[in-house]
Amino acid sequence: MTYFQQHQSDFLEGLKTFLRIPSISTLSEHKPDIRRAAEFARDELLHAGMTSAELIEGNGNPLVYAEWLAAPGKPTVLFYGHYDVQPADPLDEWKSPPFEPTVRGNDIFARGAVDDKGQVYLQIKAVESLLKTTGKLPVNVKFLLEGEEETGGEHIEEYVKTRPPRLKADAAVVCDTEMFAPELPTICVGLRGMVYAELFVEGASHDLHSGVYGGAAPNPIQAIAEILCALKDREGHLLIPGFYDRVVPPSQKERAAWATLPFDEKEYTEKEMGARALVGEPEIPLFERTWARPTLEVHGIRGGFTGEGAKTVIPARAVAKISTRLVADQRPDEAIQQLRAAVSAACPNGVTAELKVLHTGAPSLTNPDNPFIHAAAAAMKEIFGKETVYIRSGGSIPIVGVFDQYLGIPSVMMGFGLPDDNLHAPNEKFHLPNFYRGIEAVARYLEILGE
Ligand code: BES
Ligand code: MN
Ligand code: MN
Repeated sequence: MTYFQQHQSDFLEGLKTFLRIPSISTLSEHKPDIRRAAEFARDELLHAGMTSAELIEGNGNPLVYAEWLAAPGKPTVLFYGHYDVQPADPLDEWKSPPFEPTVRGNDIFARGAVDDKGQVYLQIKAVESLLKTTGKLPVNVKFLLEGEEETGGEHIEEYVKTRPPRLKADAAVVCDTEMFAPELPTICVGLRGMVYAELFVEGASHDLHSGVYGGAAPNPIQAIAEILCALKDREGHLLIPGFYDRVVPPSQKERAAWATLPFDEKEYTEKEMGARALVGEPEIPLFERTWARPTLEVHGIRGGFTGEGAKTVIPARAVAKISTRLVADQRPDEAIQQLRAAVSAACPNGVTAELKVLHTGAPSLTNPDNPFIHAAAAAMKEIFGKETVYIRSGGSIPIVGVFDQYLGIPSVMMGFGLPDDNLHAPNEKFHLPNFYRGIEAVARYLEILGE
């Protein structure tokens, strides 16, 4: 019996311990939990047999760095993941508490189960299984984990941009994406970037009676609605001048491959999303809309009266949280300028509109014809028993673009999430067979790389 088989239940218990730490990066009261999660990851890396593991302290949440470099002449891979998680609200929609990991059927439910603690943990357990079985690793391995991914924190980027010698590697391995469908091994080769911003709109100096002043007073919430409608039309086309100029359309080959993916649009719409209909640019195929086109979303609007009953008020100010997703070769800095210009052009009379950017991330697109990606596809195929598919994703993992630009390395995105894992939502889960196969696939990947 192998170490992996002997320790499956220990792996599950360890994962539960990790998931019990509410390391929510966006809420400052969880700072101590952030630190505990970082320390837990460091201790697990040491327990796995990494030569060294430490916290790198800076202005933000600690990075976790570990290395094992005793395979001279072999390639070096840099594992990346994040130990921070999204907030758990709305709490009353969880069937079991978000930080009390609970196994139901073949799934483990908890905030961070799949995004990304479960996938960080499976990387560590893959390395541990190899080290405890053979006393060594087939290639050189480094880990760099962060605790600000879910808030767009840029401290890891600042660190990587200084090109620290210890980060030298031949490829990064990122387990923070999804499989296209259950049982279908998947490598993600493209991610969207983003600009996340708050739109502050101010009208009168104080709230006004809507009967007395309605018809004369500017309304900041109405203004937000008008600005949003000026940024995106009813069919989902962005109206921001210049925004599409750098958008690279997918190749014929990529389009053809996407068209053969097993997909049921009705099930996606009604079951997975629980929606009535799909929206977005009608002339663009669905995967291209979500993977290869820029989009704009409004996440929340704060202002005015939202309490019980009726209050006839014209609010003095309002704020909208908005973001736009970017695709290759759009540049975040240029996108901000374009967005600012479009907002000021759309700002109606009588109000001011100010855009405050919270964070940005570049899009990324990796050429799959690369030995590190081929080896990952082969390892996943062996473990899942099916040909690996290549997809892109509409989500963002900003560090991938930074690895490419500053370290000159490709990122191998082998993810083990499933489309119904409820990332960022209540009842987030990780399918346990994928947790275990993820461990095997990553271990096998390192073996293939070492051959
Ligand atoms: N792991 C996700 C991104 C993701 C999800 C990639 C599904 C592929 C498939 C990541 O943790 C995430 O949520 N990123 C944020 C961006 C961040 C800058 C706030 C996102 O995409 O909204
Ligand atoms: Mn993630
Ligand atoms: Mn996330």
